Amino acid sequence: MIDLKLDITGVKKFIAIESLNTFQSEIDSHYKTLLMHTGRGNDFLGWLNTPSKMPEALMRKIKIDAEAIREMAEILVVIGIGGSYLGARAVIEALGPNFPDLSRGIENKYPRVIFAGNNISEDYLAELLGILDKKEYALAVISKSGTTTEPAIAFRILRKHIEQKYGKETARKRIFAITDKSRGALKKLATDEGYTTYDIPDDVGGRYSVLTPVGLLPIAAAGFDIIKLVKGALQMEESFAATSSLDKNPAALYAVTRNALYRAGKPVEIMVNYLPTLNYFTEWWKQLYGESDGKQNRGIFPAGVTYTSDLHSMGQYIQEGLRVIFETVLMIDESKHELRIPMDNDDLDGLNFIAGKRLGDVNYIASQGTTLAHIDGGVPNIRITLPVLNENTLGQLIYFYEAACALSGYLLEVNPFDQPGVEAYKKNMFALLGKPGFEAESTILKGRLGLE
Ligand code: PA5
Repeated sequence: MIDLKLDITGVKKFIAIESLNTFQSEIDSHYKTLLMHTGRGNDFLGWLNTPSKMPEALMRKIKIDAEAIREMAEILVVIGIGGSYLGARAVIEALGPNFPDLSRGIENKYPRVIFAGNNISEDYLAELLGILDKKEYALAVISKSGTTTEPAIAFRILRKHIEQKYGKETARKRIFAITDKSRGALKKLATDEGYTTYDIPDDVGGRYSVLTPVGLLPIAAAGFDIIKLVKGALQMEESFAATSSLDKNPAALYAVTRNALYRAGKPVEIMVNYLPTLNYFTEWWKQLYGESDGKQNRGIFPAGVTYTSDLHSMGQYIQEGLRVIFETVLMIDESKHELRIPMDNDDLDGLNFIAGKRLGDVNYIASQGTTLAHIDGGVPNIRITLPVLNENTLGQLIYFYEAACALSGYLLEVNPFDQPGVEAYKKNMFALLGKPGFEAESTILKGRLGLE
């Protein structure tokens, strides 16, 4: 039984809903290819069965380590970039409070999870070190390749800090490494130093890895129920595996609908949410779809907005700008809290007509009004609804998006599991920084920049 609902009635002004049925045979073939592991990127399909094949012993180990982190640390610094941090951050922020730093003082039960190694900002890391000087902390360093520059730089700096603060012996017990089971610099270092380690399965790429220790350890350390999260994903895995029929498989229908819109001249998809705590879920989605779709000069460009905030910034463009956009709204039916708009005798703001209403209802009506306005403005609308936001429904949503992403990539005729384009900037950065072996490129690039 799944709770996620997909509504595509908001696209019917732009594409005939019946025309989507013409995709059924195409989707059947991609679905088969995916489940039989016979298509592009078939060595990266471990995520397909991660929920059903989750070892109980692994879940236990994660919970034990999360408890140990909780006891030793006020802060867990998660070092990683891209798929090695976005999933954990997405889930922790989606399920957590709106004001984590201020709420912590009240709850103070779980460590605050902070992320590093996802940028090269000098100020970011310098300020973090200043905070860590005064706090008890632990590190989770996450890198599948074990060689990615941004997290490697952050880890080098933070390792020095933690060793100086606690001494090498104690520091070792405060460092958790999540990486490839046998390759990479991080694996070697973790083995040499005796850190607690977790393996990232060979057949799971970074952006599909949130339901492996990459996401699960930080999520558990932050105090969320990873068993319920994985169970939610398992419900979606089972539902997805049952049929490729478009009327029964929402992931397949979502993949088809976004591709039909793309083929009808809408190459930009904006993921819309109405809760600020979902901002990082949108970031996770952007990476999943951007890295999976965008190659060979094709792909749907994934963007994100939070309404109603962004109706006062991006709303103008979405309503009246270039007509290349479609929206996918992620709506959560139930708020966690109840708050009603009070009656005011003076009614100077003229809001008494909504006095007594819950804010969640007003937010929902705002979403309906916005959807209709955007459809009228030429923006097709897909709507995904969860009854409530919790570990179970978020697990369903994660698997839904992963499965739909794989099918979408196949519909686009690209490999949804590689990211060859990410290398180009790295090559230039290494050459410009003077990495041995990049001398020839360095001269050319410096010439182009007018540096020599
Ligand atoms: O999805 C991906 O594969 C990438 O975004 C990676 O997760 C990211 O580049 C980080 O790589 P690594 O985990 O090897 O440090």
